[in-house]
Amino acid sequence: MGKSALNEVRVFSPATVANVACGFDVLGFAIERPGDEIVARLSSKPGLRIAKITGDDGRLPLDPSKNTAGVAALGLLRHLARPDVGVELEIHKKMPFGSGLGSSAASAVGGAFVVNHLLGSPLTRQQLLPFVVAGEAAADGAWHADNVAPCLLGGITLIRSNAELDVMDVPIPDRLWAAVVHPDIVVLTKVAREIMPRHVQLETSTQQSGNLGGLLCGFFKSDYGLIGRSLHDLIAEPHRQRLIPEFYRAKRAAMEAGALGFSISGAGPSVFALCEGEASARRAAEAVAAVFTAAQLKATPYVSRINPKGVHVVSES
Ligand code: HSE
Repeated sequence: MGKSALNEVRVFSPATVANVACGFDVLGFAIERPGDEIVARLSSKPGLRIAKITGDDGRLPLDPSKNTAGVAALGLLRHLARPDVGVELEIHKKMPFGSGLGSSAASAVGGAFVVNHLLGSPLTRQQLLPFVVAGEAAADGAWHADNVAPCLLGGITLIRSNAELDVMDVPIPDRLWAAVVHPDIVVLTKVAREIMPRHVQLETSTQQSGNLGGLLCGFFKSDYGLIGRSLHDLIAEPHRQRLIPEFYRAKRAAMEAGALGFSISGAGPSVFALCEGEASARRAAEAVAAVFTAAQLKATPYVSRINPKGVHVVSES
């Protein structure tokens, strides 16, 4: 186990876009902003405590066994067999709940990563995966790594198996930018999962596999045309779009503004476009935000490169 001389660590844990159209539960990428900040400090009292949560309007539990960051950190401490150690967490939520931006994943990743770093990084990022997936599962009741994996590892990640947590990174094309827009409504992941179809037609599955393969090849070859042709979701989007007012109008606006493709970010209501170049992403974000605003919905755009770093230390002492 690594040695630590640290007393306090602050980390930034970024938002993520899960599914990426054709990769339901198996593909995700990290963006630069927004993100949560989590602080961990050593305390003389053994055990894990959550001392403070800000930005959550009092909604999140302070009990670590019920809190997504707490569950992830507790799992890690148990694994390390460190009942002697005392840690105090502060969670600063900087992104909305039920937003499709991977808010609970960011807290779960931040919680495990910050405690691991405080203790001298005994585990690698990859080794933290089971604890952060368990942390997120405490929030939405489902076991999928498509938000936590890119948040933890950075970049674009493919989950070959959620059960085995067989996760790999995918190259990021140089000129790939994301335009993510959050319309100010709440969609609970649990609800968005309940309206998914239980069965999928063979032809639909074939087409979705072709698109997922095409998208991955597009990322590997920096082939923007192929990325665009592949960014279609035939499984979740047709059902979930009804949870997002003006979804198809927003999609049309993004495509007319030159986006490569457009779909729902995670379980929604945020939407995303992938674009070639920053200027194109800015145009797409503006066009999509204008559609939501015209429908009297406050819309917050985030224009970002794919974030290659994922969660990282902001300060330590
Ligand atoms: N893959 C998940 C879903 C992401 O679409 O339900 C949401 O957390």
